Amino acid sequence: MLNDKNVVLEAVKQEKHVSTKSTPTDLVTEADRLVEELIISTLRESFPSHRFIGEESCAAGEPCVLTDSPTWIIDPIDGTCNFVHSFPMVAVSIGFAVKKELEFGVIYHCFEETLYTARKGHGAFCNGLRLQVSKEKDVSKALILTEIGAKRDPETLALFLGNMEKLLRAPAHGVRIIGSSTLALCQVAAGAADAYYQFGLHCWDMAAAAIIIREAGGVVMDTSGGPLDLMSRRIVAAASQEVAGFIVQQLKPIGYERDDCGERHAVR
Ligand code: IPD
Repeated sequence: MLNDKNVVLEAVKQEKHVSTKSTPTDLVTEADRLVEELIISTLRESFPSHRFIGEESCAAGEPCVLTDSPTWIIDPIDGTCNFVHSFPMVAVSIGFAVKKELEFGVIYHCFEETLYTARKGHGAFCNGLRLQVSKEKDVSKALILTEIGAKRDPETLALFLGNMEKLLRAPAHGVRIIGSSTLALCQVAAGAADAYYQFGLHCWDMAAAAIIIREAGGVVMDTSGGPLDLMSRRIVAAASQEVAGFIVQQLKPIGYERDDCGERHAVR
């Protein structure tokens, strides 16, 4: 939402010009680029010395590495495939980090027009109402969310399905895929789901959501159980250490190139 206009929802109604990026299922539209330009140019007016990591800038070859400088990490349209099909799970996500620590995050659900926010040490909110994770400790009572990621080669799919099968056999109450990493992570923060895991997402999918989950009382970590690494392209998030730990033990890693491979630097 910019200047009280829901630019993304307006764009859903227009004809979409769709192209692909890293794989045939990694989609981008003119709206993704336009929204990112709007966000970066607006923020840059107020914060000229800050750095920016944006999904579409990086796709266009701009550098992508997190330094100690104040950095805005932006996904202009998360759930681009949903956006293309008018499937109502689409978000704008903006995280802010200083010295590589997340300070705050905002995620706007464009169809529901709800705003998830969190600031370090100040709690997490949805439209001003405090968020709290479910605190579920037992995976056999858990609803777990995940996303497929952009790679669909046989080896990746076998690992993806194998990981999901282990959780279904736990048995978790259910496993869901909604097509937007950021909104799925917000469901964990809101207590509507108990965990999320994924290989293949990006720093702009994780930044805002990670602080929203932490501030809602949840845990975020690497799929190995170590500290979350924003550039690693993998995450486990949960309502409790117990559920996160169980998921970590089940997962076989799926290899994705890091976001900061090639020692690229953030857009200035
Ligand atoms: C993607 C979506 C998708 C997830 C990918 C993300 P995008 O973001 O969240 O559900 O599987 O890993 O990169 O491309 O729609 O901004």
